[in-house]
Amino acid sequence: MDSLIVRGGRSLSGTVEVSGAKNAALPLMAATLLAPGQHVLRRVPRLADTHTMVRVLEALGARVRWEGPAMHIDTSTCSSVEAPYELVKTMRASVYVLGPLLARFGRARVSLPGGCAWGPRPVDLHIKGMEALGARVDIDEGYIVASATKPRDSEFGSSLRGTRYTFPISSVGATGNLLMAAVLAKGLTVIENAAIEPEITQLAQYLVAMGAIIEGVGTTRLEVEGVPELSPTEVEVIPDRIEAATYLVAGAITLGDVTVANCRPAHLGASMAALEATGARITIEGMSVHLQSSGRPHAADLTTHVYPGFPTDMQAQMMALASIATGTSTITDTIYHDRFNHAPELTRMGADIRVEANVAIVHGRDRLKGAPVMATDLRASAALVLAGLAADGETRVSRIYHLDRGYERLADKLVMLGADVERRPE
Ligand code: UD1
Repeated sequence: MDSLIVRGGRSLSGTVEVSGAKNAALPLMAATLLAPGQHVLRRVPRLADTHTMVRVLEALGARVRWEGPAMHIDTSTCSSVEAPYELVKTMRASVYVLGPLLARFGRARVSLPGGCAWGPRPVDLHIKGMEALGARVDIDEGYIVASATKPRDSEFGSSLRGTRYTFPISSVGATGNLLMAAVLAKGLTVIENAAIEPEITQLAQYLVAMGAIIEGVGTTRLEVEGVPELSPTEVEVIPDRIEAATYLVAGAITLGDVTVANCRPAHLGASMAALEATGARITIEGMSVHLQSSGRPHAADLTTHVYPGFPTDMQAQMMALASIATGTSTITDTIYHDRFNHAPELTRMGADIRVEANVAIVHGRDRLKGAPVMATDLRASAALVLAGLAADGETRVSRIYHLDRGYERLADKLVMLGADVERRPE
């Protein structure tokens, strides 16, 4: 297990390139299961999570090879319908294979992911979506076991049938799973209160490119007319909006001047607004966003919402920024009420944070001080690195395998911006 040694106090400046989005790549990889044949996914980030999804696809019989940042996936050789516990427990997004397997093979056996570092994170809505399409779903020995039986007179490819389903709450993963199953289900499926995160919109666009018929892409109401089969195709993964916004915070927290290149500014609206509220100056030029600090950040209140609201995946990083702001910020997470693992670790670096239910009250301090810290999830780890960049002295962030799950070459990219960051074996 490696640690990241961060020696703080340097103002970051320069340009950083954003990688492809982890949360877009994972459902796209799962979607390749829907159409037997050769798929090409470009700009796939090399992360622990995308490697885990490769292993899931391989466990199902697919052949995967990387060619630079392009991933070639051959799903014509798939034979198994089981996503094993050993893989799913390390990455809950593995559950994305449920819908595609059920749609293509009429059955699936996917391990339940189990808990996560900040709470229960159930998959009940994924299961309800499959049931709405006519599948029978049981839980057996920790596995979701789903099957659908084709009516004897049906010549249609899949055994699933169209339905109308309204999500009681907005769910990125459950929308993706239901959508992937519905594109091969016979008849019309109407999905209400669908997630509209850019990663789901890209998934829908990819499915359309494969031959699916979907109306309302990018809206909360998706109408899907099932087709008997889909064909493999190519796609380029959208830039990672969370990675991009994390580097903007790195600029703000070090009172620096950072340009994030090769991103989609339109996907960064809420994060840019949140940074502007702290006094940072932001300008957009084509596919680049430039942040220039105007000095020590001001306190600003923040509440997470579903897209296009402020993303829960940026809450921890903004809390690091609030820790050195002038004044008191209130940070509320409405998506994950317990997602505050970073708060006690930031406190170890001198931050003044009190958590009450799903609200963190952050009194900004003049300075933070480096300390050995440890995070239990991806974005919390990113927050600790950001705090370390601003702190006096040395911060050792251990358990950085969490960072490897979601940030491609984080240390290298920060060093290119002038940070003093070093990866060290523990
Ligand atoms: C995705 C992202 C994750 C992000 C989250 C919210 C991926 C791989 N991960 O996770 O980085 O933090 O969106 O933007 O894209 N819920 C249920 N039952 C379900 C499913 C979800 O109650 O079956 C709840 C969750 O507990 C949560 C809310 O719905 O409170 C939203 O979660 P969801 O959008 O499903 O998150 P993920 O898709 O797991």
